Order: sequence, then C-alpha cells, then structure tokens
Amino acid sequence: MDINLLLARADTPGVKHVAHLNNAGASLPPKPVIDAVTDHLRLESELGPYEAAERAQAAVERGRGALADLIDCHGDELAMFESATRAWGAALSSIPLRPGDRVLISPMEYGSSYLAFLHLAHRTGAHVEVLPVDADGLVSAADLRDRVDERVKLIAMTHVPMHDGLIYPVASIGRVAREFEIPYLVDASQSVGQLPVDVREIGCDMLVGCGRKFLRGPRGTGFLYARRAFAEQLSPGAVGLDGVEWDGAGYRFARAARRFDTWETNYATRIGLGVAVDYAMSWGIENTWRRIRALAADLRRDLAGISGITVQDRGRERCGTIALTVHGHTAHRVRAELQRAGINSWVCLSNAACVDMRRRGLDSLLRVSVHYYNSVEELARLCNVLESLPVPAAVGAMS
Ligand SMILES: Cc1ncc(COP(=O)(O)O)c(C=O)c1O
Repeated sequence: MDINLLLARADTPGVKHVAHLNNAGASLPPKPVIDAVTDHLRLESELGPYEAAERAQAAVERGRGALADLIDCHGDELAMFESATRAWGAALSSIPLRPGDRVLISPMEYGSSYLAFLHLAHRTGAHVEVLPVDADGLVSAADLRDRVDERVKLIAMTHVPMHDGLIYPVASIGRVAREFEIPYLVDASQSVGQLPVDVREIGCDMLVGCGRKFLRGPRGTGFLYARRAFAEQLSPGAVGLDGVEWDGAGYRFARAARRFDTWETNYATRIGLGVAVDYAMSWGIENTWRRIRALAADLRRDLAGISGITVQDRGRERCGTIALTVHGHTAHRVRAELQRAGINSWVCLSNAACVDMRRRGLDSLLRVSVHYYNSVEELARLCNVLESLPVPAAVGAMS
C-alpha cells in the first residue's frame, strides 16, 4: 500500500513551518502523539500527577505492548528508559565481564555507545576490539566467524549508524552469535520505525531503541529489549522499586527485562511513545520503509548530480539517511544556509561517530534524513538551495 501523503502531512502540523530533513535526529511528531502528551500533562495538572498516572495506567502499559508487537517480543522482555544511551548503559553494566574477555564491536557505534565500551574496558579489564569492514563499510559475518574464540563474551552491532545510510547485516551476524552462543547486543536507535526490526529474526539477546527518531515519539524516550531467558540471568547495575520484588527482608529481581525498570518516569512521554508506535503501525512499517527508500534513492541521485557535492554514504542497501560534503563550504555553513531557507538538516561531528569518521579522515558531514511524510517538493527545494551555493572556481572548471 502506498502512503497517503496528503493524510500524513495533514497529521503533521510541523510541515507547515519547515521542511524537516532531520528525522535521524528527531522526527516531527504527528497530531495523535502531540495530543496524547499534552492531554496527559493537563490531566496531571488537574488531578494531581500520581492520580493522573493511576487513571492512565492502561495507556502506559499499552505503550510497552505496542512496542512488543512492533519488534516481535513479549512485554516483559522490554524495559523503558529516558534515552537509548541510558538503555545501552543498563545493558552493558549487566553483562558480567572479566579481565581478558573480548568484546567485538562494529566501527559504526554511536559516540556515546563507543564511550560506554571504553568505560566498560576500563571497569572490567575486558578488551574491546573494533572489527574491520569491507569496501561497503560492513562487517562480514564470515570474517567475524574467523575471529571468534572462547574469550569473546559479547558482540555488539549498530543496525543503522547516525552518520551514514548503510544498513548492517544484523541477522547474519546474529547467526554467528547464536552458533557460538555469544551474547549479542544491537543498537536499533536509527532503524526502529524506519525499517522492519524483528528481534527474533535478528537473533539478538538485547536490542536498544529510541522513541524520538523514526518512530516519531516524544523526546526523552528509549527502550531495551532483553530476550526472556537471557534477561533472567542479568544482574542490573542499578535497581529501584518496580525492578525488584522486595519483602523487607530480601529482594528478587522482577521477571525478565522488568528488572531494569525504576518507579519514577515521565508518564506523558511514555504514553506518547505508545501512541507513536500504534501510529507507526497504522501506516505499516513496510510501507514506511518503501517510501523512505524511494525518496532517499532519488535524492541521492539528484545530490550526486550537483557540482561540488559528494555523497559520502556507503552500504549495499541504504536507508533514509544521506551524508554529504560540499566542496568549499563547511557543513555548519551549509546547514545555516538551509535553515535560512526553512529546511532542517544536521551536522554530524566526528565525536558522534568517532571510530568510523576518524578512520575515514572526516571531521564533519552534512546529514539529511527523510521520512515518509517528506514531499518531493521539499527535496527539490533542498537541491535548489545546494545548487545555488557558490561553487569554488576549481570545481566549477572541472564540471
Ligand atoms: C545509532 C544511535 N545510537 C544511539 C543513539 C543515542 O540515542 P539517545 O540520544 O536517545 O541516547 C543515537 C542518537 O543519535 C544514535 O544515532
């Protein structure tokens, strides 16, 4: 089924104000999400926040159920967090590691996630090894297989990085992890809501996601999936009420991933995330993915035809995130020009994708990222502004 663009845009008040091509940062929320968040804040102010939470308990739990349906897991395999970074930290701090253990990661990890690995190595004495990639920027499952030995205690991959259109072959890597029974953690912050993410198909033990990006949920929402039998063995680095069953004498962790839950949270955004997931599913993730892929492929082709622009993405299959450099202009300057023209984009600095960008000698990239609610006209406006940038003489003479 094709996405009904008129309906999608009518549901997205932000499109009247801006051409939003920063969906990999955070998407424009649709009306039902805006209403759910503001309605709950109003309810808190009228009933009292605790009383409003009691009234809205079903909506809060509905969110977890909706997410479980989306990624094909059980509700008790999900813990809710205020960011993907927090969920990632909770996952890493619960995996027992000893000096000399090996942790294999991709070079596409988000900056905070990579820092968490450095910290993990410092705390535990484990060796964190960044895997090599092929010409398309991908880790190969066959190469990974050759590197595995009994000291490997964790494999971690990012499904889609923040600074590139490539999509990692997380399911084929999952098969290697399963074969050797090595815990497998996947960062789906950029993929969930953009393309199908199915934890059973990926074969991961843990997966982290983010609400504000392609799911179009509120800011300050993230989650951790932990496979039930795997989660039952984990000892969270931090605990709180809701994550433990406590009788005053002793305590037991709550079942599966619920052990990561803490009592206090932002109810309005949690309800909003559930509504965002329901909304995403009402369009159909396959339909969303088909439109994003088509828009991005056309845009890449058009951008590549503009003098001075180099599309920097790699990957055999690419998603809605496009990274580029503009000869003779800094990414910050181009972003400012676009902003003046009412177009949102983003600058990825090398600290946010530190391993990969530094390896490739890239200090910064201009990122444009499309969602299904973007129109062809918005993308044409982007190309017009980029075409109108003054081309340095040497490039002009070459083209
Ligand atoms: C691939 C990836 N992982 C993790 C994160 C961290 O998400 P959060 O800002 O919710 O902690 C981001 C944020 O941009 C990201 O792009």
